[in-house]
Amino acid sequence: MIAKFITLEGIEGSGKTSSLKGITDLLDKKDISYIVTREPGGSSIGKELRAILLDPDTKISPEVELMLMLSDRKDHVEKTILPNLEKGNWVISDRFMDSSFAYQGGGRQLDKNLIISFAEYLNFPLPDLTLLFDLPAEISLSRVMARGKLDRFEKEELEFHNRIRKAYLDIAINNTDRIKVIDSSQKLETMLNNVEKVIEDFFNE
Ligand code: TYD
Repeated sequence: MIAKFITLEGIEGSGKTSSLKGITDLLDKKDISYIVTREPGGSSIGKELRAILLDPDTKISPEVELMLMLSDRKDHVEKTILPNLEKGNWVISDRFMDSSFAYQGGGRQLDKNLIISFAEYLNFPLPDLTLLFDLPAEISLSRVMARGKLDRFEKEELEFHNRIRKAYLDIAINNTDRIKVIDSSQKLETMLNNVEKVIEDFFNE
């Protein structure tokens, strides 16, 4: 089987990270070699960009934020994602291009066509499968608050997170083959069962 590229997306506290183990357990069972990576911060330069991007003291415009996210992604694609796929390792990335459409497009309200043009220019690969973890922003923010110290995005108001959620759901409606929506407002066990089902269906395609 050709190595696959799977991405996890969703608003803050949507259960992406809790689901990761369920996904890697399934890959282990099938003896599939894979790497787990994330954005921002999936390359060594990316780690520095991540620190800048998440620091609540960083003051940057939405345009600069977009450029830093895209720089992080280009380096991540060149140094981590493509070399691993070429070696036959599946790549599981916690966030990818849909995050820029949802956060910088939806949240920061930058022009979506401009973001599409950048993505085309930078020649980013399209994931084979994307799991979108969805739940109301009120619930997600209350989960995030319970975790403690907030980063620059988590500190944004509810309306920002509502716009991100809506942007994600719009992308999902237009990409039903690639994006599978997981209801993360359910209890963890139910959510993990649904993740497992999506991955099993993907294997059987
Ligand atoms: P992270 O701690 O990884 O968030 P989470 O645990 O919720 O996945 O922080 C990444 C933050 O960066 C998150 O708030 C989303 C934001 N982000 C963007 O705004 N645009 C992007 O293109 C990416 C990849 C992330």
